[in-house]
Amino acid sequence: MEDLIQRAAQDLIKARYGIALTGAGISTESGIPDFRGPDGIWTKNPEAEMKAYEVYEQFKTNPKAYWEERLDPHGSMSRLFSIFGEIGKVQPNCGHYALAELEKMGVLKSVITQNVDGLHQKAGSKKVIEYHGGIDKFRCIECNRRLSTEELNLEKIKIEGKLPPYCQCGGVIKDDGVFFGEPIPSDVVEKSQREAWKCDLMLICGTSAVVYPFASLPQMVSPSTIIIEINSEPTPLTGRISDYLIQGKTGEILPKIAERAEKIQKG
Ligand code: APR
Repeated sequence: MEDLIQRAAQDLIKARYGIALTGAGISTESGIPDFRGPDGIWTKNPEAEMKAYEVYEQFKTNPKAYWEERLDPHGSMSRLFSIFGEIGKVQPNCGHYALAELEKMGVLKSVITQNVDGLHQKAGSKKVIEYHGGIDKFRCIECNRRLSTEELNLEKIKIEGKLPPYCQCGGVIKDDGVFFGEPIPSDVVEKSQREAWKCDLMLICGTSAVVYPFASLPQMVSPSTIIIEINSEPTPLTGRISDYLIQGKTGEILPKIAERAEKIQKG
């Protein structure tokens, strides 16, 4: 393990354009369960996963009904959203801070995350692409405009009987979080692909790498790009797409890599 940590630090320092990809695994040490691990949200609530596959169809078919149910505190949607519990209240862990540190050192150029929890930004990472959206935002499905929770007064719109909320462009507004079956917003796809094509090192942290199209990003890189996985268990990338796996907790391994990289950088 120590050798692989040293190797990863050296690879990062040598890299011209290193990026990180992250999944739910990087936030478990902050108290947010992942999805498919032994204590995963879907592992524990298979019916909730089934429900999650219906949400986007529901939204497309009848956005007004979608919002009425979404805002009904006793509705099935709020039960689904309650699973995500207190996401807004948890704090980043050492794994998030280590990636922010590597960015500050100029070693990491960006983070592309599947997580909607905003913990990378809370830890100080500046260039973060939220591939599956963010829990603290809304988005117009026509023009991709993002709105903060302050900008959209849902209770007022509901009381005035004006659901669903509309964007100034005329498009319908939904939660920014990307539902199963929903296309990834075009601006996010473009930015993420550009980073994947540009990078010569990709650090993949805490993802089972089974959800597409995110899981296709490691397959878009140039042949010379070094791909390093940090995960509690092997994934479909291991031994096929990635160069090596450092098996363990991101919150323990990433700080060590950042520390070594700093030592190397200081010479
Ligand atoms: N450190 C390292 N790896 C961890 C840790 C940890 N502390 N905790 C969990 N893991 C690993 C698990 O073993 C698993 O392989 O992280 C991985 C998490 O995988 P998933 O639960 O499948 O999460 P993710 O890959 O992010 O899921 C992708 O699926 O449900 C959708 O939209 C949701 O963005 C999510 C997407």
